[in-house]
Amino acid sequence: MSGKLYWVGYLVIFLGLACKDVPESDLGTYDPTPYELKIPTNYPPIFIPKGNPLTEKGVQLGKKLFFDPVISFNGQFSCATCHQPQNAFSDTLTFSKGIQGHFMAMNTMPLFNIGYYQRYSWTGKINTIELDIDVTIEELHNGWESLLLKLNSDKNYPALFYQAFGKTPITQDLVEKSLAQYVRSIISFETRFDSIVSGMITPTALEMRGYELFFTEEGDCFHCHVDPLFTNTGFHNNALDVIEKMHPGFESVTGLELDRGKFKVPSLRNLAYTAPYMHDGRFKTLKEVIDFYSEGLQYSPYADSNMKNLHKGGIQISEDDKTALIAFLMTLTDKKLPEKYVSP
Ligand code: HEC
Ligand code: HEC
Repeated sequence: MSGKLYWVGYLVIFLGLACKDVPESDLGTYDPTPYELKIPTNYPPIFIPKGNPLTEKGVQLGKKLFFDPVISFNGQFSCATCHQPQNAFSDTLTFSKGIQGHFMAMNTMPLFNIGYYQRYSWTGKINTIELDIDVTIEELHNGWESLLLKLNSDKNYPALFYQAFGKTPITQDLVEKSLAQYVRSIISFETRFDSIVSGMITPTALEMRGYELFFTEEGDCFHCHVDPLFTNTGFHNNALDVIEKMHPGFESVTGLELDRGKFKVPSLRNLAYTAPYMHDGRFKTLKEVIDFYSEGLQYSPYADSNMKNLHKGGIQISEDDKTALIAFLMTLTDKKLPEKYVSP
């Protein structure tokens, strides 16, 4: 063996030994620098749990995990398979296909401004984002144990978790926390509507008419889709179905009959990306949604009292006004959303 090769051999053995048992100093340094959420001043305060403050390293790690198919047992699903950034972190399907090959029971929800909700999923069956992730990964990875084994023996993740949380080994709690931090960091607000409100640009006459319809008793949308989030974050029955066809909705969580057929009020920001619409994706276009609110309401005693003209089928607006309402809704599109939360 030449002298040079001899040394290379030594180096290989040395590195091999070093990798076997990584001392904490090789994991880098714990860095809890707070992550600064960019939230416009007219937004309400966002709820961040005390046990999981957002940090630069935590959000960065959550982002990596979000796009990494390592979280599924077959290596084929990441969170972004269904929550696609280019579609406001939802997808374009009525029901996404789950990892077991069956379709999901509900339309995939977009993930922006979700730190404002107190309950998660369409029926509100889950109380925190961390818990939502717990259940999702349980299903995507056939349980947590094998995922934690994979992550703990990965060449990058142990150091990234150590730098974000100052702890080893990687636990279920830390995976949930980092993913929740990333999801909470996705805030959407840069739209034409926001520029109009702040006086930077003027709306077109059509948008202005749509605005008027939305925010007055004529259209009556603002009771539930409250500005600036365009959701009151609550659960309501918007008269989609007659009793015989009605999904129990929020009643399945509270056990109260008065909650029958109630679903989470979705934000109307980014509708340009979130079709098809409603919890079961029944409407393919916004025109179909507006036709429904105008003349397609289904009577039931469970329908919300704010569903105007319920007996007549809805708000009864002209075709021109429907076009105006849609033009207004399109001003709520945040075109910068994907690039802001995906690129480093
Ligand atoms: C196979 C598609 C699919 C994958 C993969 C997926 N989700 Fe979801 N997600 C959904 C669907 C469908 C819903 C709505 C579920 C319901 O209402 O029952 C949802 C809802 C959510 C919600 C609740 C949002 C709200 O406003 O209430 C969060 C948070 C979420 N997902 C995060 C994640 C994260 C994080 C991952 C990766 C660990 C992930 N999801 C992976 C389909 C998916
Ligand atoms: C009583 C409360 C209430 C009122 C008033 C109301 N909505 Fe809704 N809206 C909801 C609820 C709840 C949903 C989700 C229902 C479901 O999926 O089962 C929804 C869903 C939507 C969706 C689909 C969003 C998505 O991402 O799937 C659009 C668009 C919409 N509403 C627009 C409007 C417009 C426009 C008006 C006024 C004409 C209006 N809403 C009035 C409660 C309301």
